[in-house]
Amino acid sequence: MVGSQIQIFGTDDASLNKAAKLLKSGELVAFPTETVYGLGALATDERAVLKVFEAKGRPSDNPLIVTVSSVEMVEKFVGPINSSGKALMDAFWPGSLTLILPIATSCLPNVVSAGLKTVAVRMPDNAVTRKLIELVGQPIVGPSANISGRPSPTKAEHVESDFRYRIAGVIDDGTTPVGIESTIVDVSDEDNITVLRPGDIREEQIAQVVGPLSHGPVDTEKPKAPGMKYRHYAPLVPVVAKNGGVEDFLPYLEVDYPLAIAVPSTIYRALEDDIADHMNMDRELVLYDLGEDVKDFQHRLYGILRDVDETPAKELILYVPLESDETAGYLNRALKASSSFEDGL
Ligand code: TXA
Ligand code: MG
Repeated sequence: MVGSQIQIFGTDDASLNKAAKLLKSGELVAFPTETVYGLGALATDERAVLKVFEAKGRPSDNPLIVTVSSVEMVEKFVGPINSSGKALMDAFWPGSLTLILPIATSCLPNVVSAGLKTVAVRMPDNAVTRKLIELVGQPIVGPSANISGRPSPTKAEHVESDFRYRIAGVIDDGTTPVGIESTIVDVSDEDNITVLRPGDIREEQIAQVVGPLSHGPVDTEKPKAPGMKYRHYAPLVPVVAKNGGVEDFLPYLEVDYPLAIAVPSTIYRALEDDIADHMNMDRELVLYDLGEDVKDFQHRLYGILRDVDETPAKELILYVPLESDETAGYLNRALKASSSFEDGL
């Protein structure tokens, strides 16, 4: 069904009031967070929640995150919070940490958590969105505001291009600072706390609050964050993940088809210097600067994954660092976007 064109809201009070009104009447409005933009709907309204699944093309067995503006709101909707959950909220909220908690007495429709006995909750580090939720007076569901399988949106323009006629509005608060989705920690069993999805908040930081985490055998039949089993974050252009230094990327300047290369600043500068020597080639090369460190890589990744589809490139060579606690979030997203991985020499 084709609806009317998406409304772009500012972050002023009048705009937030309009957006809150739309949400209260069961419409979908995308909102900014520090990680990526979320697709908002009134969490207490089953019909509104079902519209989110439909608009995203999201399988109904993939539960949504409930986005709140206060800890009291969590208790009101899903019951008492266990002590590990409380400690993590104290340490990291508002912030890019989603907690999976057991549902005690939920007044949310079952579709929100896809029938599970647990629920994902998050309080974003974005004052505009917390204010929006206060105006609504109820929690809102907030999956990433992308069509399922596409890279998550880090700008209002990304939301617009995925949902132009399918949702009522988006609140434009510029580019999201973190750039990849929140770290998800399952605290539903306090003796068995696990990271379900790595993000900007690192495992070591979490362990400092709740002690060492479990790394139980991975049950591939039933992933604990149902969303992690689906292909994600991928542009249409095939992505090759590659680790290495300048010398490992230089050979790509020689290939004879349109290519995109995304590399850290140091490698970027070296390749740029070298490009002058390869100007005799009559094909297009798109070079992306991933930035200086892994925070920059996270911040820029999804923008690059979307931009590359607008270029003539037939392939994206994407730099990946070696695995560590610090690189886990970026690496997870980069490898999910990739069709193959080439190790450095
Ligand atoms: O940073 C973020 O978390 C963004 C912003 C918008 O808040 N949201 C986000 O939502 O990434 P989404 O729906 O794209 O990813 C949520 C993930 C999915 O993989 C889902 O399967 C998992 O959380 N999840 C939700 N409820 C769960 C539950 N009860 N148990 C296990 N995993 C759950
Ligand atoms: Mg998502």
